Amino acid sequence: MTARSSALIALSERVLVKNYRQQPVVLERGRGAEVWDVDGRRYLDMTAGIAVCCLGHSHPGYTARVTEQLTRLVHVSNLFFNEQQILAAQAITDRSFADRVFFCNSGAEANEAALKLARRYQAVVAGKPERTTIVATHGSFHGRSIGTVAITGQPKYREGFGPLLEPVEFVPYGDLEAARAVLAKGTACAFILEPIQAEGGIVVPPEGYLAGLRALCDDTGTVLVFDEVQTGMGRTGTWFGYQQDEVVPDVMTLAKGLGGGIPIGAVAASEKLAAGLAAQPGGAVPHASTFGGNPLACAASRAVFDIIEAEGLLERVAAAGDYLGQRLTGLVKKYPTAALETRGRGLLRGVRVAGTPATVITKCRDKGVLLSIAGADVIRFAPPFVIERAHVDEAVDALGAVLAES
Ligand SMILES: Cc1ncc(COP(=O)(O)O)c(C=O)c1O
Repeated sequence: MTARSSALIALSERVLVKNYRQQPVVLERGRGAEVWDVDGRRYLDMTAGIAVCCLGHSHPGYTARVTEQLTRLVHVSNLFFNEQQILAAQAITDRSFADRVFFCNSGAEANEAALKLARRYQAVVAGKPERTTIVATHGSFHGRSIGTVAITGQPKYREGFGPLLEPVEFVPYGDLEAARAVLAKGTACAFILEPIQAEGGIVVPPEGYLAGLRALCDDTGTVLVFDEVQTGMGRTGTWFGYQQDEVVPDVMTLAKGLGGGIPIGAVAASEKLAAGLAAQPGGAVPHASTFGGNPLACAASRAVFDIIEAEGLLERVAAAGDYLGQRLTGLVKKYPTAALETRGRGLLRGVRVAGTPATVITKCRDKGVLLSIAGADVIRFAPPFVIERAHVDEAVDALGAVLAES
């Protein structure tokens, strides 16, 4: 590490809350799948800001659209309509099951809004106020707000924050019988899960699980919520993760790639469920966000939709994802004691490693490749969609070299 990085990291030690455990890299600029630190060192970015920068860094078309919006209108609040918000909602409804969209600013906020929607749907629309239990899955991740840590099925995220939202019941991910048993109690308000558990370790559910859950939720009057914060916006090769399994939820939450780097979140719902957040005639506004749906974030989101389509990026995710998957499978074959398993779909992939994942990541970084951890022992690959074959080779070769040393 050289002078500017060291000085800035030293300053961070004094002025930032010490909640994060950042990698010791101070990034300054990026282009496509590459980023540079303040000392001019180049890295290949296989994190995309945790599955956010789907178009890569500094995409010229995206930058132009966001810049154009900056010069026109940034924020007006929801006291008024704004064109960008309405058209961004249409971009989601045109490509998904959803009829209506509520905008907020992050994944946690989107899940909070989905919880409120489901509770109020049961209480006010379905006339079942006794149905209050939120069912979630072990190993899940839904955000860091007080409500979303309560439904996150990893105790480490909940410790020290109690008392939390209740009642919540956790079931094993992928276990239909456990889901059947909990839903049979008749107290469930909503079942929330990720179509692929991302932070939990890139866990793809068994064939038929999502379809089975859909049927169980229909039979029991439970709202089915898919948290597509990480799987949405093309990351698996279709616009939304649910389209891979052709199982349609009642509600879906989005964030991360939705804005391509500008913060935005959304709850997308069927007409029936959207009534859960609708104001009653003469009643109070049941949910709101000052920044939610602001023109800048929504213009960014519209640019993401347009550019993904114009550049054929869904097809590129599928092709690059297949290639990445093959190369990672090759690593597992070559280093079976160091690389135990590969998982994922599209450009959301993981390799379970035997060694300490943080050490593997540090060594890859030393070779110029940025990666992150998912779950306890999985090295996550979530690169920008504009990634090239040569980049995939560079990243996998670096990981291979590290595994060969271990
Ligand atoms: C599936 C899922 N849901 C929710 C969140 C929380 O999103 P945010 O950090 O934008 O609040 C994340 C973040 O990693 C996520 O992966």
